[in-house]
Amino acid sequence: MTDSLTVRDNRTGAEYEIPIVDGTIRAADLGQIKTADDQPGLATYDPGFVNTASCRSAITYIDGEKGILEYRGYPIEQLAEHSNFLEVAYLLIHGDLPTREQYDQWVHEITFHTFVHENVKGFMQGFRYDAHPMGMLMASVGALSTFYPESRHIEDPDNRHIQIVRMIAKMPTLGAWSFRHAQGKPYIYPDNELSYSENFLSMLFKMSEAKYAADPRIAKALDVLFILHADHEQNCSTNAVRSVGSSQVDPYSAVAAGIGALFGPLHGGANEAVLKMLRRIGSKENIPGFIEGVKNGEERLMGFGHRVYKNYDPRAKIIKKACDDVFEVTGVNPLLEVAQELEKIALEDEYFVKRKLYPNVDFYSGLIYEALEFPPEMFTVLFAIGRTPGWLAQWLELVQDKDQKIARPKQIYTGARTLDFVPAEKRWA
Ligand SMILES: CC(C)(COP(=O)(O)OP(=O)(O)OC[C@H]1O[C@@H](n2cnc3c(N)ncnc32)[C@H](O)[C@@H]1OP(=O)(O)O)[C@@H](O)C(=O)NCCC(=O)NCCS
Repeated sequence: MTDSLTVRDNRTGAEYEIPIVDGTIRAADLGQIKTADDQPGLATYDPGFVNTASCRSAITYIDGEKGILEYRGYPIEQLAEHSNFLEVAYLLIHGDLPTREQYDQWVHEITFHTFVHENVKGFMQGFRYDAHPMGMLMASVGALSTFYPESRHIEDPDNRHIQIVRMIAKMPTLGAWSFRHAQGKPYIYPDNELSYSENFLSMLFKMSEAKYAADPRIAKALDVLFILHADHEQNCSTNAVRSVGSSQVDPYSAVAAGIGALFGPLHGGANEAVLKMLRRIGSKENIPGFIEGVKNGEERLMGFGHRVYKNYDPRAKIIKKACDDVFEVTGVNPLLEVAQELEKIALEDEYFVKRKLYPNVDFYSGLIYEALEFPPEMFTVLFAIGRTPGWLAQWLELVQDKDQKIARPKQIYTGARTLDFVPAEKRWA
C-alpha cells in the first residue's frame, strides 16, 4: 500500500501523486494542479471547514460516531467523576496530570489571581443596566490586554504562563460581576478561602452574610459542568481563538474573539435557545405538534444534532446525572418532564434517527442553570468560564507550532471585475 493519492486532471490529462499523511493531503499540494502555468492552482472549497484539518493537536480526541471524548487521552466520564475543574485545566494546559506539588502550586496561583484591577470594576459599571453579560465578558476580557501589556510577548514561556493563570482565575470574577450588574447588586470580591466553583457561587449570590456557603452538591455540579465544557477540539470558538491568535496578538484579545464566537445561537447560545424552546412547548401534549414543525423544516430542535457527534453526546449523559444532583437541592425543574419526553420521541422518530441527531451538551445544561436561578443570558457565560482552559491550551499549542501560519483562507471570487468608476456627481446628475 502506498500512502499517496493519484489524481488525474481530466481537463489536461495530467496525473499527480499527492502524499497522504495522517489520513490527510496537504491542500497546498493541490496548488500544482493547473491547466496552464499562468492559471491558478486547484484549491478546495470548504465553507465551515467540514472536512479540512487546520492544525495538529494533542489536546482533545473526539470520535463522533462512537460518542467518545477524551482530554489528553483521559475519558471525559472518568475526569467528570474523579477529577476537578482545576486539575482538568492543568491537564489541558500542561499535557499531563499534576504531581501533588504541581497541583498545589497551580491551585494557589489560580486562587491568588482572582482579583481584577479596580479600574476593571469601574468600566464594567459603565455598561447599560440591561447589558448582555456575554457582551460585558467579551469586552472586559479584551480590556485585560490593556492592563497586562506585557502579554504581547507571546514568545516568552513565563509570560505566557502568568497570562494563562490570570485568565482562568479572573474569568469567574468577570462573569459574576456581569451577572450582578444586570441585577443592580454590588459586585462581590473573590474569597480566596473558597474553591474555584464555591468562590464563583459566592461572587454570584452573596448578599450581606459574612461568608457565602454554597451547597456542596451545587458547587460539585457546577465544577462538573465546567469540566464538560473545558475543551472540544476545533469548534467555532476555538477556531476563532486560533485564527485571531495566529496574528500573534496577546491571549486576552484571542480569547475575547472566542467569547464572541461562543455568543452565537448555533454555538454556546444553544442552551439558552433550548430553554426558550422548552418554555414555548410548555407541556407534553404540545410535543407532537412541535416535532411536526421541526420535521417540516419550520424550526430546529435546539440541543439536538452536532457537527461531530453522530451518536449520543457523552457530555449529555453526564449532565443528566448532574441534573439529578442539582434537582435534589433545588427541586425538579418542571421543564425536565418536557425535555425527557421530547428526547424520547425524537430518539424514536425516523427523521432524527436517519440524520443521526442526538441530544448534545446543551439539551440538559440549561435546565440545571435555570434551577440554579441563572437567567438564560448567563448560560453562555458559564460555558465561557468552563471553556477558558481549553481555549488557552489550544492557543498555547498554536503559538508553539512551527507549522502554523497566519489564518488566511482562500475565496472563490464571484463579484464583478474591471468596472469603470463614474464619480458621484456624474452618476447622480
Ligand atoms: C449543531 C448544528 C449547527 C450542526 O449542524 P451541521 O453539522 O451543519 O448539520 P446540518 O445543519 O447540515 O444538518 C444535517 C441535517 O440534519 C438536520 N438538522 C440538524 N440539526 C437539526 C436540529 N437540531 N433539528 C432539526 N433538524 C436538524 C438539518 O436540517 C439537515 O437536514 P437535511 O439533510 O434534510 O437538510 C445543528 O445540528 C443545529 O443547528 N442544532 C441545533 C443547535 C444546537 O443545539 N447547537 C449546539 C451544538 S453543541
